[in-house]
Amino acid sequence: MIKIAPSILASDFSRLGEEILRVEKAGADMIHLDIMDGHFVPNITIGPPVIRSLRKVTQLPFDVHLMIEEPDRYIKDFADAGADIISVHVENNPHLHRTIEMIKERGVRASVVLNPATPLNTLDAVLGDVDMVLLMTVDPGFGGQQYIESMTDKIRELKNMAVKRSLKFDIEVDGGIDLSNIRSVTQAGANVIVAGTTIFGAPDAEEMISSLRRNAFGGYV
Ligand code: DX5
Ligand code: ZN
Repeated sequence: MIKIAPSILASDFSRLGEEILRVEKAGADMIHLDIMDGHFVPNITIGPPVIRSLRKVTQLPFDVHLMIEEPDRYIKDFADAGADIISVHVENNPHLHRTIEMIKERGVRASVVLNPATPLNTLDAVLGDVDMVLLMTVDPGFGGQQYIESMTDKIRELKNMAVKRSLKFDIEVDGGIDLSNIRSVTQAGANVIVAGTTIFGAPDAEEMISSLRRNAFGGYV
């Protein structure tokens, strides 16, 4: 079973609540919220107060992707604001175990993220502790970029690592996912699919989410 997580980065920010309701009605399984600080990535988006406000409009899980420096300083704020999953990047985090513990202590699911150029072995020590691994399939910072083809092998390799170690974490992919490549990422082992431009840019979000699901299973389901 795959889960579809529309990224609100591609939505109309003047109507965030309505946009979330629109994709909820269209069949989204969770909402992907991209948090950028202008330091870890060259873009700035939203913070805990906006998440807290959005928490009132939907029951869907909030999948919070932190692209910020010093994430430990803000874990509590994001948890209190209503995050259900928090993803932290490994690239700027020398104390991953501590961060994962901080997230879990607050009853939130913990996830770690790798940029496309970051090797999978950086996860070795924490793989048994996480609920999800998020593999970036573009360099983070902006929506609407093109899927990096070599990431399909990386997804497959991560899936193999999970199988070998009998671990059950989710594998999420983020960046440039569309109708043409969703099949290859799910076949490789991804089961949580972020899509921003593909869903919010579609004339009919419901039809797009159904088509994504259908293509994810090879067009038969
Ligand atoms: C990129 C973000 C993504 C982005 C994906 O830094 O992490 O979540 O919104 O957008 P699309 O699906 O348009 O590539
Ligand atoms: Zn993201």
